[in-house]
Amino acid sequence: MSWEGNAMSSRYHEVYDSWMRNPEGFWAKAAEAIDWFKPWNKVFDADLGVYGQWFSGAECNTCYNALDRHVATGRADQLALIHDSPITGTMAKYTYAEVLAKVNALAAVLRDQGVEKGDRVIIYMPMVAEAAFAMLACARLGAIHSVVFGGFAAKELATRIDDATPKLIISASCGIEPGRIIAYKPLLDQAIEFSSHKPSACVVLQRPQLGCELVAGRDVDYAEAVGAAKAAGRIVECVPVAATDPLYVLYTSGTTGQPKGVVRDNGGHMVALKWSMDNEFGVKPGEVFWAASDVGWVVGHSYIVYAPLLHGATTVLFEGKPVGTPDAGTFWRVISEHGVVALFTAPTAFRAIKKEDPQGAFVPKYDLSTFRTLFLAGERADPETIKWAEHKLNVPVIDHWWQTETGHPISQNPIGLGQLPVKYGSPCVPMPGFDVRVLDDAGHEVAHGTLGNVVVKLPLPPGCLPTLWNAGERFFNAYLAEFPGYYKTADAGYVDDDGYLFIMARTDDIINVAGHRLSTGGMEEVVAEHPDVAECAVIGIADAMKGQIPCGFIVLNSGVSRDTATIEKEVVGLVRDRIGPVAAFKMVVTIKRLPKTRSGKILRGTMQKIADHEEWKMPATIDDPAILDEIMEALKARGIQVV
Ligand code: COA
Ligand code: AMP
Repeated sequence: MSWEGNAMSSRYHEVYDSWMRNPEGFWAKAAEAIDWFKPWNKVFDADLGVYGQWFSGAECNTCYNALDRHVATGRADQLALIHDSPITGTMAKYTYAEVLAKVNALAAVLRDQGVEKGDRVIIYMPMVAEAAFAMLACARLGAIHSVVFGGFAAKELATRIDDATPKLIISASCGIEPGRIIAYKPLLDQAIEFSSHKPSACVVLQRPQLGCELVAGRDVDYAEAVGAAKAAGRIVECVPVAATDPLYVLYTSGTTGQPKGVVRDNGGHMVALKWSMDNEFGVKPGEVFWAASDVGWVVGHSYIVYAPLLHGATTVLFEGKPVGTPDAGTFWRVISEHGVVALFTAPTAFRAIKKEDPQGAFVPKYDLSTFRTLFLAGERADPETIKWAEHKLNVPVIDHWWQTETGHPISQNPIGLGQLPVKYGSPCVPMPGFDVRVLDDAGHEVAHGTLGNVVVKLPLPPGCLPTLWNAGERFFNAYLAEFPGYYKTADAGYVDDDGYLFIMARTDDIINVAGHRLSTGGMEEVVAEHPDVAECAVIGIADAMKGQIPCGFIVLNSGVSRDTATIEKEVVGLVRDRIGPVAAFKMVVTIKRLPKTRSGKILRGTMQKIADHEEWKMPATIDDPAILDEIMEALKARGIQVV
C-alpha cells in the first residue's frame, strides 16, 4: 500500500547526511525561512550557555514571524486559528488579521499592567483561543510565558508561580470537562495565597459557562480591557529580542516534586519548528493542521500554536475529548469540517476511540478526502493501535518520539522528505540535528539491537532547551553529567541494523499516563505527607487505555488502627488535591512492608513487573523474599492479576 514507504525514493538519507557533514550550514539555510531584525554573528556559539547557543547576536520576534509577516504578505484573510469546542457547542474562526488585532490589543493591556521584555507571565487557561492569543501577546512584548496545564491543582500552580516569579497571570473563570465545570478562579486565588511570590495583576477571561468574582485592585476583566485597547486603536510593535532570549518556560515533571522549567529560546525554536512543518510533517503553508493536544503541554506549544502559525498554516484549537464530545466520531467530524490535512495526537486518544467504536463505524460518515497523515506521539504507540488507525483511515500513521525538552521530534518517519518503510513499534529514524546513540551504563556504545541509554550527541539542535529556568546546574546534572558529551534522554531503547530506533521505557521515575508525563517521585512526596503513612512507593502499572496508571503502595505507621480503606481514600484525595486530577491517581494498596534490597533500596521495578503480570525474577539482593508474596496477595485482593 502507498503508506508503507520506500527507502529508495525518500530524500531522508541525503538530507540527514547533509546535516551531518555541515550542521551549521544546514541550520543557517533553514534559518532563511525566518524574518530576522538583525542577522546572527554565529550560527552556533559553543561558548555561550551550558552547552552553547544557536544564532547568537541575532534579533527577532516570534510573534512577528507567526502573525505580522503573514498579514503583510497576503495571508491577512486566511484563517489562522479555528477554535472548535464541541464541549461548549461553540466554534470561532479567526483570520491572520483578526488574530493579529486580538494579540495586539492584549499586548497593549499587558503593557499597561507593566509587562516588559524579559518579564514572566503565567497563563493558566483552558483550551480557549485566548490561551493562544495570550502566548503570542507575551511573545510580541518579549515577555516570557509559562503556560500551566488546567488539570494541575493549586499547589502545583503555586510551585510554578514561585519558580517563575511572574509579573502577571492570565487566566479564565472556568474550564470544562465532560460532565463538570472546573472553576479555575478559586484554584488561581488559592495558588496565589500559597505562593511566596505575588503577581501584581491577573487578567481574567470570564466564560459564559461560569463567571467569577474579580479581586478589586488586582484582577482585570480580559474582555473589557482588550475591548478598550482595541477601541482606542492601540498599536504595540513587536519588541526585538535576542534569538537566544527565552520565549517561554514550560514546567515538566522531574524526578522530584519540584518540576523542571524547560526554557525555549526565540530564534532556534522558530527555525526548527518552521523546518519541521514541511520536512517532517509534510504540511504546506495555507493548509489546515490539527494537533489534538492541550496548550499546557509541549505539543500544544509547538504544534497547536507556534509551528503552524510560523508556517502560515491554519491551526485547530480543539476543546473536547476524542470520545464523549459527543461521540467517537468527533475527530472525523473536525477533519472533514475544516479540511484538516494532518492530525497529531497521542496514541491513548486512539485507544479511547477504538474502545468506543472498534469497528470504526463513525469513520465513513465523514468526508476525509483532505486527510493525508496521522501523527502519534507522547508515549509509545502500540502496533495494534497503529494498525487499527491505518486500516480504518487508510493514511500513513507516523509514530514520532520527542520530549518537552526537545520541543520537536527527535525521530520520526519523515513524511515530508518521503516516507520510509514502517516498522511497527519504532518511531523510525533520527531527524537532522539529532545524532542519537545508545550507551551502556558505563557510557560505551552498545551493538545494534542491544538495549541501553538513549542519548543525543551534543550540541542539541536549534529548538531544544538550552537550560532550565534559573537552574543551569540542575540542567547540567540532570541531562549532561552522566554521559559527558551527550544529552541523556532518560529513555531506554535500541537501534536496529537499519538505524531504526525503538524506545522502550524511561530510565527514571517518569510515567506516562494518557499521554501526560508525571513523576512517581513527586506523587510519593505527597503520599508520604499523610500522617498515617510510614513509607510508600508509587509505580506506574500497565493500563490498556492510558498506557500506564499510577499505583501507590503504603505501609502504615505502627499502632494505626483506622480502617485502611478510609486511609487509602484519603491518600487518593491528597494526591488529587496537591497534584491535580491529571495525575489519575486512583489506586492505593496497603501492605505490611515494602520490598527492599539489603541496602534499603525499594524494589520498584520488581513490584511493577508483578503488577503488570510480567515474568520476574527474585532479586538476589532482596532483604526478605516473603514480602513479595505479601504484595502479590494484596494485589490479588484488589483483583489485579499477578503471575
Ligand atoms: N482541567 C481540569 N481537569 C482535567 C483537565 C483539564 N484541562 N484535563 C484532564 N482533567 C481531568 C479529567 O477530567 C480526569 O478527571 P477525573 O479523574 O475526575 O475523571 C483526570 O483529569 C484525568 O484525565 P485524563 O487522564 O485525560 O483521562 P480522561 O479519562 O479524562 O480522558 C483520554 C482520557 C484518553 C480521552 C484523554 O486523556 C486524552 O484525550 N488524551 C490525549 C492526551 C494528550 O493530548 N496528550 C498530550 C500529548 S500529545
Ligand atoms: P513529554 O515530555 O511529556 O513529551 O514526554 C516525553 C517522554 O514520553 C519521552 O521521554 C518518552 O518516554 C515518551 N514518549 C514520547 N513519544 C514517544 C514515542 N513516540 N515512543 C515512545 N515513547 C515516547
